[in-house]
Amino acid sequence: MKVRGSVRPPGDKSISHRALMLAALARGTSELQGLLTGADVKSSARVLRQLGADITSIRDGVKVTVHASRITHPASRLNCGNSGTTARLMLGILAGQHFTATLTGDASLRRRPMRRVTEPLRAMGAEIEEQGGDALPLTIRGGRLTPLTYTTPVASAQIKSALLLAGLTGHVGVTIREPYRSRDHTERLFVHLGLSLHERAGAIVYEPSDRRGVVPSFHLSVPGDASSAAFLVAAAVLAEGGELVIENVGVNPTRTGFLVVLERMGARVERVNLRDAGGEPVADLVARPAALRGTEVSAAEVPTLVDEVPVLAVLASRASEGSETAFREVGELRVKESNRLELIAANLRAVGAEAEARGNDLFVCGRARPPRGLVETARDHRLAMAFGVLGTIPGADVRLSERGSVAISYPRFFDDLRTIRET
Ligand code: S3P
Repeated sequence: MKVRGSVRPPGDKSISHRALMLAALARGTSELQGLLTGADVKSSARVLRQLGADITSIRDGVKVTVHASRITHPASRLNCGNSGTTARLMLGILAGQHFTATLTGDASLRRRPMRRVTEPLRAMGAEIEEQGGDALPLTIRGGRLTPLTYTTPVASAQIKSALLLAGLTGHVGVTIREPYRSRDHTERLFVHLGLSLHERAGAIVYEPSDRRGVVPSFHLSVPGDASSAAFLVAAAVLAEGGELVIENVGVNPTRTGFLVVLERMGARVERVNLRDAGGEPVADLVARPAALRGTEVSAAEVPTLVDEVPVLAVLASRASEGSETAFREVGELRVKESNRLELIAANLRAVGAEAEARGNDLFVCGRARPPRGLVETARDHRLAMAFGVLGTIPGADVRLSERGSVAISYPRFFDDLRTIRET
């Protein structure tokens, strides 16, 4: 299989959520270009509409307009679907509102931990009632908040963002430290909008201004999602020839750890046409086939590639025969859309590769024989895409339990995977 041509990944999921939420909190009309049309972003839009925001429909190639109006008490429960980002960031926004709202989600989201966000929000003064322990559904009553200084137990952009949004809507200062730096899209967007956010002695500090958290309306062009681009890069690296250009990709260093790891594995991906979009670095990526070797991914690197572990593990299974890749401290993968840590290892074994989860580490060994077998995606979009890429290898016979889950973050994934290939 050879790769060819150029392809544009869909809009960045993390930035799309944040842009919609801040536009809904802004004063005036905002315009968002290149927003992801995936189901997760639609979950954020649906929830914001239930709270009174006026958001035009989210469709490919169409600019989305958000007419802000005051956020008000919702008539019914807020369903966050499969989206952890929607649930956790909305808890932050709701902490600063003087009304009660109940958040819920699909079966996968209802299994994911929420106390990591609700505990610090409670410390700020939000009242939160659990119905099923450390998970959704949750009922939150926000209101008068007090300032917070907090060190997050895990490096999580969702925790950090929830607290910054609570500071913004509750008009209180928030100082956050994290064990390792997680993605900083919220910080960049705050700064881009002129909100008072800075770094002081390794902490992220939000200070409410006299304007009482007034967010100006804005226009934003959302870059392509580095995490979606990673699957296309992987397909090019595993190809037998050709070259693939992946256009308009966000290359924020808190998101591109997979490119650093790939380079250690022997695949150099070029970044060309570097530019800026709304405070985010953007480039075109040029990816080519490469012979891979195993590497070690350190705990400090994990937050910069946390969503890319499935596809990096798939690549590690194609490294030179017998060479091992170790992913250190990837226990967070147990609480993603599925138990990714166990499912990556189990599915690699199911297709004849060698992989094992030991404690919080994941080990994968390179094998030359073509992968063959049935993969259980557990309806997790990133597992479907990672193993979809593995299925492009000559002689492979990788069957996926389903493909529909890609609608969460990359609806056109399998079409794009087909068009970049020349057989
Ligand atoms: C996200 C943060 C990460 C990531 C998720 C999106 C975000 O989750 O895995 O896909 O938009 O803030 P954690 O904050 O739980 O690490």
